[in-house]
Amino acid sequence: MDSFKELASRRRSHRKYSSQPVTEEELKTILGAALMSPTAKGLRKWHFVVTQDQERISRLGGIRTFGSSFLAGAPAVIAVLGEPSSQEMWIEDGAIAAVSMQYQAEDLGLGSCWCQVRGRESCEEGVSAEELVRRILDVGEKYSVLCLVAVGHPEDVRQPQDEAALKWDQVEWK
Ligand SMILES: Cc1cc2nc3c(=O)[nH]c(=O)nc-3n(C[C@H](O)[C@H](O)[C@H](O)COP(=O)(O)O)c2cc1C
Repeated sequence: MDSFKELASRRRSHRKYSSQPVTEEELKTILGAALMSPTAKGLRKWHFVVTQDQERISRLGGIRTFGSSFLAGAPAVIAVLGEPSSQEMWIEDGAIAAVSMQYQAEDLGLGSCWCQVRGRESCEEGVSAEELVRRILDVGEKYSVLCLVAVGHPEDVRQPQDEAALKWDQVEWK
């Protein structure tokens, strides 16, 4: 990558991945981007659960009736958790960490996609998507689950952002 501008333009969500594993070094680089990301009051209260366990990943793919199935083919999934009892801005902190990981993955030539967990129903009636993630990844009680970020070598071809279609009309200059 030549610049952040080019990275921002190239980053798209990838939902199909080859079977090539993501190396531990790549995962550490991606997690490092999360751990360096800005947090409200500098509290750094996020928590991340990384799994390359295909049985767990396959179950994560089935947590929602729509929007999670792409996870099942991913070589690695990172759950982004927060501690609402000690960081009221855990959602903002987690979102920034998740997106930082997505840009770092792109920079490594990897693809990624966010799967929303917070506030979503699961495919089991009356059970939240978060509850299923808790069971699958043994998430401790003090944490809340924001999202899952899948990472892998992309197999779907995505075009870069169309700069001519950017919503400049939604930007006010005063
Ligand atoms: C807060 C948030 C929630 C998202 N939830 C999902 C999801 O549950 N499933 C999914 O396939 N993609 C999800 N995405 C990815 C978006 O669909 C994607 O970013 C959007 O369509 C724009 O495409 P792009 O990332 O290729 O630019 C989510 C993205 C964000 C930021």
